[in-house]
Amino acid sequence: MIDFGSFLIFCAVSCAAYYYVNREKNKKNFEIANKLPGINGLSLFESFYIILTTPRKEYINKVLSYVRDDVPLTRATFFNQTIILTKDADFINKVFNSPKTYNKPDLFYKGFMTTKGLITLAGSEHKRHRKVLNKAFTSKMMQRLPDIFDDKSKKIIKNLCQVENCGEFELLEFIGPYSLETFGKSNLNYEIQYHKSDIFHAYDKYSSVATDYLPYSMFGLAKNILSPTPLGKRIKDVFNKFNIYFDDVVKVNKENENNNFIENTAIDILLDPVNGFTDEEVKDELIMMLLGAFETSTRIISMVLMMVGMNKDVQHKIVTELNEVYNEDKDAAFSADFLMKFPYLEMVIKETMRLFAVVPMVARETSDEVEICGHVLPKNTTILISIYAMQREKKYWGDDADQFRPERFEDGVKNPHAWAPFTGGSRICIGYRYAMMAMKIFLINFFRTYEVNCKQKFDEIETEMTMTLNFLTGYKVSINRR
Ligand code: HEM
Repeated sequence: MIDFGSFLIFCAVSCAAYYYVNREKNKKNFEIANKLPGINGLSLFESFYIILTTPRKEYINKVLSYVRDDVPLTRATFFNQTIILTKDADFINKVFNSPKTYNKPDLFYKGFMTTKGLITLAGSEHKRHRKVLNKAFTSKMMQRLPDIFDDKSKKIIKNLCQVENCGEFELLEFIGPYSLETFGKSNLNYEIQYHKSDIFHAYDKYSSVATDYLPYSMFGLAKNILSPTPLGKRIKDVFNKFNIYFDDVVKVNKENENNNFIENTAIDILLDPVNGFTDEEVKDELIMMLLGAFETSTRIISMVLMMVGMNKDVQHKIVTELNEVYNEDKDAAFSADFLMKFPYLEMVIKETMRLFAVVPMVARETSDEVEICGHVLPKNTTILISIYAMQREKKYWGDDADQFRPERFEDGVKNPHAWAPFTGGSRICIGYRYAMMAMKIFLINFFRTYEVNCKQKFDEIETEMTMTLNFLTGYKVSINRR
């Protein structure tokens, strides 16, 4: 019978052996990597120490603390892995567009835990899924969305009468239903009732489970190794809930095939036998899409309302723009063309997304040796891209980069690649036009009805930066009817 101490020694020796064998195997790559500008690599023990001691709300800030300002990329070594950190707009743009930096590293994305959806898929599998799913987001498909967004936003705005003139309230409770119910109706052909929905509770748990899982994912631990632990059980529970929910979505859609079925929505495409998706792929894609759509749009709409509530002059300009448009035609219907008549509102949304990159960091992996902006990156290098830091970088946005000033978009930006909240290239967010339309329609209907006030001070907003950016200080505003 082997005692616990011997077991620990066995584990430590195995780990060290793995580390050094792996290092020898990748000697050539390390030689290439060593020529890149960088900081000294962290030792095996330092890597462990950092993962275990950094509070989860600080992960991204911790990574950012290593990024050098004087070079477009900073090399670091983390647990035997060469990592490139960057906030350089031109470098990042090249990474988004190179076929050799198309895939995403396990190190960063295993935490998502589903493997057959767009966000995590690699290479030709990703291309196949993306090509098919793009059909759900064409200009033609966008034309049916304004009615859905208009309808659902009016329902939420009606609900807001419960809190008008009543002091501060928490925005997410009202905006969450808008994002989730529009998502169900337009992508799943399915009516989600937010307050009664299991999906919302599963989602809520998912966010915290995924973040708790992140450090284990960095050590390369697969989720099935954790299955006997409490964290493993929480992971299983969340995914059971997602699976039960989406089983029902699929069942309802299959049964409705000849009735209310809208063609070419995401679910229609996924269930079409011509496209050859397995049951598991269908569910993983639906989960991924929900993960991509819900939290992001909910938080950005709430952040915009807070920013506008803090800036009376901005609110005044939004309302003047609305009045001008609606004075011409008070019953105008929403369409993609009509939404172009609100350039100031668009600048307000863009400025909020610039300051608060809701996906603060994305990652890619080199599938081969590749030269980018004059630097040779070896195969299997992880590239960590800080959208958050790029969008606040003074060299692109000026000395007031950390301030809220929507007018900066009027003058034209110094480097158009420095604004990339949806990223870029062929893995750009599939729902970016959908999201912009959903946000604009909600905000137009909101500002036609209400004035918003926010007591929170901009400089006192505390953020949590994990996979998504969250305001730890909450999303509180008060509203009065116009
Ligand atoms: C304000 C709202 C949103 C923001 C800021 C946002 C941002 C992002 C970002 C940064 C990515 C990662 C891209 C990369 O790794 O290069 C992404 C991917 C994705 N998003 Fe969004 N997103 C939003 C809304 C949506 C919506 C509404 C949907 C669906 C209806 C959606 C579905 C997806 C999917 C499926 C992917 C994976 C795309 C791929 O890898 O091919 N997102 N999003």
